[in-house]
Amino acid sequence: MRKNTTMWFIVLALCSLILAACPAPPPPGSAAPAASSGGESQAAAAPAAPAELSGDLNLLCTPQVQWCEGMKAEFERANPGVTVNFVRMSSGESLTRLRNEKDNPQFDIWWGGPIDSFIAAKQEGLLEPYASKNAALIKDKDLMLDPDNAWAGIYVGSLGFVTNKNWLTEHPGTAAPTSWDDLLKPEFTGQVLVAHPSSSGTSYTAMCTILQMRGEEAGWEFLKAYAGQMLQFTKSGSAPAKFVGQGEAAVGIVFSHDIVAEMEKGSPVELTFPAEGTGYEIGGMGIVKGAKNLAIAQAWFDWALDPATQELGPKYEAFQAPSVEGAAASRPELLEVNLIDYDFDYCGTNKKAFIDRFTNEIANADALKE
Ligand code: G6P
Repeated sequence: MRKNTTMWFIVLALCSLILAACPAPPPPGSAAPAASSGGESQAAAAPAAPAELSGDLNLLCTPQVQWCEGMKAEFERANPGVTVNFVRMSSGESLTRLRNEKDNPQFDIWWGGPIDSFIAAKQEGLLEPYASKNAALIKDKDLMLDPDNAWAGIYVGSLGFVTNKNWLTEHPGTAAPTSWDDLLKPEFTGQVLVAHPSSSGTSYTAMCTILQMRGEEAGWEFLKAYAGQMLQFTKSGSAPAKFVGQGEAAVGIVFSHDIVAEMEKGSPVELTFPAEGTGYEIGGMGIVKGAKNLAIAQAWFDWALDPATQELGPKYEAFQAPSVEGAAASRPELLEVNLIDYDFDYCGTNKKAFIDRFTNEIANADALKE
């Protein structure tokens, strides 16, 4: 019996030694220790987390300033090592700035404003192509992504008319415009506001919509009469919504989401659309050729195409529709209107020529209302 007991103890001791050399399987969800030659387990080298970004990003930001401020804060929150320095500048001014700084670019990425200006910028060699992994999320790549990855669409918005409701009450028999021709009515003479197309992508979209819908000959004739109705041209595309809301004019031509933003502030305005058709924008984004902070610019580019990023808009009074799958539109009804088949290549390629003609033959850009 004793001999057998001793034997059993020896067997048990040997089993314990063998088990101690075999580590327990890791709990689910933890990194399994790598097998090692020495029998002891060593923590596997965890997959390298992407190196945390650190440094500056110099952002050229075209949409309304509160959205620029919001995007800066959100990107810095997601990338604590980065400081975003932005300048808010309308589309036309932005394109001019990039042209002037071509040999020594001060900005790393241009975010926002209709792609007409990005098409023009690409043709002038001002953009750095970047094939973002998130470009795969873009809904309509033929429409919203440059084939050479020079720019990508980040939002969509339709053109509308903003009208002051108090003005209508004070002028019985008048009504908010529901066609482009309504803008030429005598009661609106000196009562219309739009930005100048040389500074504003909003205004250029309206101008190219008219040229496309009517053809260039009749279009230029209309534009002459249209310009004659203006109280003044503004510098920024969204500004007419604010001024009409303040009662400085009866009617403005801006993107419909900017009118919704004005209505959300409680301004006495209403939104209408030209029934015969209206133009629309695809807001663009592109990395500046020669960007000094390229890696951070590429990180912004990827981030701006993330559905979660695009759903941040309404938090900053931005009601444009998203450009990527997986992001819900806050105001889908703004695109459920009669949109023309706006020719972005035609309008982008002719942008400089059309603006020069408007400025030289119809109305110059002196003393723009800010
Ligand atoms: C506003 C709109 C944007 C648009 C931008 C163009 O901010 O909300 O959707 O892209 O204007 O600015 P601009 O001053 O060039 O017309």
